[in-house]
Amino acid sequence: MNIVEADVLIIGSGIAGLMAAEYLSMDKNVIVITKSGVEHSNSFMAQGGISAAISKTDHWKNHYDDTLQAGHQQNHPELTEHLVKESRKVIQTLFEWGVPFDRTAEGRYLLGKEGGHHLNRIVHAGGDQTGKKIMEVLIKRVKKKANIVSGQYAIDLMVDGNQCYGVYCKDKKGDITMYHAPHTILAGGGYAGIYSVSSNSHGSDGSAVCMAYRAGADLADLEFIQFHPTLLKHEKYTGLITEAVRGQGGILVNSRGVPVMDSVHPMKDLAPRDIVSRRLFEEIHVHGETVYLDITGILDFEQKFPGVTALCKKAGVSLEKGFIPVSPGAHFTMGGIMTDIHGRTTLKGLYAIGECAHTGVHGANRLASNSLLEGAVFAKQSAEHILSSKAEKSRSLPILQDKRFSIQEDLEDELLEEILIKKVMDVSAGICRNKVELERAAELLQLSDLKPSLFSKPLSYIRRLNIQTMAWLTVSSCLNRTESRGSHYRTDIPISRNEWCKKNIVRSLKNDES
Ligand code: SIN
Repeated sequence: MNIVEADVLIIGSGIAGLMAAEYLSMDKNVIVITKSGVEHSNSFMAQGGISAAISKTDHWKNHYDDTLQAGHQQNHPELTEHLVKESRKVIQTLFEWGVPFDRTAEGRYLLGKEGGHHLNRIVHAGGDQTGKKIMEVLIKRVKKKANIVSGQYAIDLMVDGNQCYGVYCKDKKGDITMYHAPHTILAGGGYAGIYSVSSNSHGSDGSAVCMAYRAGADLADLEFIQFHPTLLKHEKYTGLITEAVRGQGGILVNSRGVPVMDSVHPMKDLAPRDIVSRRLFEEIHVHGETVYLDITGILDFEQKFPGVTALCKKAGVSLEKGFIPVSPGAHFTMGGIMTDIHGRTTLKGLYAIGECAHTGVHGANRLASNSLLEGAVFAKQSAEHILSSKAEKSRSLPILQDKRFSIQEDLEDELLEEILIKKVMDVSAGICRNKVELERAAELLQLSDLKPSLFSKPLSYIRRLNIQTMAWLTVSSCLNRTESRGSHYRTDIPISRNEWCKKNIVRSLKNDES
């Protein structure tokens, strides 16, 4: 077995992982570990942009209020304040590093609008290719300073009691590498990819959250899953149609051309996502309608949205008549590994940042374009904390019992097929949930062993184990929250209850096993 030493290990190569690497590699030996290529992340695919209160008529307090309103006041107040106050600095830093944000002829940032924002405050690049433009700059910078290792699937954390000191990774050949460091940062993304209709990349299988869970870290708010209202409705392609299209005047209509958001919310098509998605669910699944995004009022659509134009072209959806068929899909997970303002988890030496973390800044429903912002802000927080902390004494490495060639290489196992798990999630823990379906799903997904030894298992098994663990944790958390709030909507209890206000559903392996 290979053993590799570093000062800091970063698992994941989205905006959070690479920004942390950028800050840390000034002073530390940093290794970034990614399961596929460095360009395969949700950050790279992000279309809309980064929200920041930078216009003359805006103020961080407006951004804060919109974030709390979208999050149904379930947000962590201090961390949310920190998030929005830092947004200007994030934009300035990325601009100085070379991100080509879209600007006016006079050099001012062009600010778009998205759901839940009362003002234009979305800073974007390449029209609807913000993630790609940011990540290209970050990849180039980080490659010069840190070691980026691709094709390593992080399977489990190395822990001794409450202390994390690295991670075991497996490659396609089945070889295990032990990466050893006093600081490990999980930046491996969320778990919206455990649904069959999702805007996410293949890697959003909840692996970072599951690893932290198996290692003993606390998780929170797993029941809060955001469904983006407008994924392209096509049998093969489920890519995202950015909310910025509605910000430019796109309107959601049914097959009779009737606007569907008019009498639902004062912000109409730009209401927060949970509200729009629920309305579309009703139109599609209760009234049997097809929903379209009417883009006839948008001038120079192809120029403003080159990414959406290319996606529609690839899928054979013509933009000529100005109607794009859409339906909601799983997009973002508000829950994850519990952290404090420094990104610290409940395990020493283990940090979590970006979508795999639960900072509490999104409450029960994330405000549009606050996700890249969260990744950037808490990457800096964790990096600063690590840079200011005293160097840990190196520890002796545990002896790993390498069971790769043992008879434990099961040909059959108790796990469900990935496609079935995703269907179960669509039906039981989608936009609308109820006790009967959730209980049925929890029973089906239940695992007899929540922490099996993974060294002897093939990668396909480990991915399925993560997906099923994540699915079970999600449906059981949905069952535990006996109310409706934000993105968590129970048709059997369609009201918010005071006793659940500001309460998190915290999960830990210790409690689940007892
Ligand atoms: C979008 O462009 O609509 C998605 C941006 C986000 O997830 O906030």
